[in-house]
Amino acid sequence: MKIAVIGGTGNIGKGFALRWGQKHEVIVGSRDQKRAETKAAEFTAILKDYGLDANITGALNKKAAAAADVVVLAIRYNQVFAIIDQIKPVLKDQIVISVVVPMAKDRCMIVPDSTTIEVKATDRDDYKVDYFCYSTPASGSAAEEIDAMLPDGIKLVSAFHNVPAAKLSNMDIELSYDVGVCGNNMHSKKVVFDLVRDISNMRPLDIGPLETSSMVESLTPLLINIAIRNNMKDVGIKFID
Ligand SMILES: NC(=O)c1ccc[n+]([C@@H]2O[C@H](COP(=O)([O-])OP(=O)(O)OC[C@H]3O[C@@H](n4cnc5c(N)ncnc54)[C@H](OP(=O)(O)O)[C@@H]3O)[C@@H](O)[C@H]2O)c1
Repeated sequence: MKIAVIGGTGNIGKGFALRWGQKHEVIVGSRDQKRAETKAAEFTAILKDYGLDANITGALNKKAAAAADVVVLAIRYNQVFAIIDQIKPVLKDQIVISVVVPMAKDRCMIVPDSTTIEVKATDRDDYKVDYFCYSTPASGSAAEEIDAMLPDGIKLVSAFHNVPAAKLSNMDIELSYDVGVCGNNMHSKKVVFDLVRDISNMRPLDIGPLETSSMVESLTPLLINIAIRNNMKDVGIKFID
C-alpha cells in the first residue's frame, strides 16, 4: 500500500514512516522537496541500522497525496486547512486519515493551603500553572471540520490521536497502546485497523462514526496533563476489559 504522510517530516510523521516504511511504500510529504528527501533518507538509514529494509521516499505534499492510496494528515490543526486546499485537487479515491488534535495551553490558579503557605496577593502568579485543554472546533471535532472540506467520495478516518510521537518513532520500544478509530465507512476503517496492527503490539478499537472523534481527540490534552503533573513520559491509552 502507498501511504503519503503529509507533514511527514514532523514528530508524528517520523513515527509513521519508521513503523510503516518496512511493510508499505511511504512517501514523506513536505512543503519543501529537499527536506522531504533528506528526511526520507534519514528514516531509511534508521531502519537500516535495525537491519530492516525500507521503502521510503520524499515528495512535495501534493505530489505525495496524488501518488498514494492512503493520505495521513500529520499537520497541526491551524495548518491543516491550508494544506487540504492544496492537496484537494489530487484527492480522488484515497483514504484520508486525520490524527489532528486541536488543543491549546491554558492557565489555572492553584490555591495554596493557607495553613502551610502564606500567599501575598502579589505572589499569586506563582500559583498559576499551565495545562492543556481541547479547543473544541465549531463543528465538534477536527475530523468533522476536515471532512467538510474534503471532496465528495473521500472517506475520512480519524485515528492515532493518543499515540505519543516520541514512542512511535523509537524503534526500541514495543508499543502496546490502543488506537481509537472513528469514521463513517467500514471498509476505510478496516484498512486503518490493519495499519494499526502493522505497528508492533498496537490494538485498533472501533469508537464509532466520525461524530465520536471529539471524544478521542480530547483525550490527548488529558494524557499530556497527566504526564506533566505525574512525572510520566509519553502517556498513551490502553483499555482493559
Ligand atoms: N506529536 C505528537 O506526539 C502527536 C501525537 C498524536 C497526534 N498528533 C497530531 O499530529 C499532528 C502533527 O503533530 P506534530 O507534532 O508531528 O507536528 P510538527 O512536527 O510540529 O509539524 C509537522 C509538520 O508540519 C509541517 N508544517 C509546519 N508548519 C507548517 C505550515 N505553516 N503549513 C503547513 N505545514 C507546516 C512541517 O513540515 P514541512 O516543514 O516539511 O512542510 C512539519 O514537519 C498534529 O495535528 C497533532 O495534534 C501529534
